[in-house]
Amino acid sequence: MLDPAAASDAAKDAAARAAVAMVEDGMRLGLGTGSTAAVMVRHLAHRVKAEGLTLRCAATSEATATLAASLGLTVEPLDAIGWLDLTIDGADEIDPDLALIKGGGGALLREKIVAAASDRMVVIADPAKVVERLGAFHLPVEVVPFGWETTRAHITRLLEKHGLTHRPVLLRQREAGPFRTDEGNLILDLALEAIPDACELSRGLNMIPGVVESGLFVDMADLALIGQPDGTAIELIADQTPEEDRA
Ligand code: 5RP
Repeated sequence: MLDPAAASDAAKDAAARAAVAMVEDGMRLGLGTGSTAAVMVRHLAHRVKAEGLTLRCAATSEATATLAASLGLTVEPLDAIGWLDLTIDGADEIDPDLALIKGGGGALLREKIVAAASDRMVVIADPAKVVERLGAFHLPVEVVPFGWETTRAHITRLLEKHGLTHRPVLLRQREAGPFRTDEGNLILDLALEAIPDACELSRGLNMIPGVVESGLFVDMADLALIGQPDGTAIELIADQTPEEDRA
């Protein structure tokens, strides 16, 4: 039997392979960020070389852009491509409606901009990312450095309105000091335990001055490919039934 780390790696690999199999010659692609997305980029580069595919790629982070270019993929600024056929990205949590928490790697802003400029967003993940309700993973929120403690106070007040009292809002740190995103912003990680209404919380966060974007991706993902340690991948499709009609 595989140990948990090997099983997780095998599952990520399976999800990445399944997503890369969806890529067609001539596509304009968004490349996600994180360990699962990095595996996908490697498989993609392999297919491009083996099959001579012509693709145009926009990356969701400097790290992904560097990796993709080093593997021979053509990476262009998003604005040079304009619109994308497909974005393939990882996630930190995926709920049954395919609402996501993203931003564990700090790339949530570019990830959201790229996903929003895509016909389709396909999420790739291992089974540990699938949850009944979002919120056990700390929700990343990107904020501008100016007045960030005041912005944090606004966030705490909003959380209280959502019944989320006494929830720590933590400035993400690295050894050298606060973590900085590719845009030079800060990340606040919200320890929420469970999010009652992801859509409402997302809206509320985005209305706070100083908040650039939250890691809640609601109604953005079209499909999730959940890799399994045996090398297969399970497809999850968002429940299209209106909430009031659900059993
Ligand atoms: C980065 C992200 C990643 O997609 C997310 O953190 C998942 O990463 P991994 O595949 O390493 O678990 O949102 O900002």
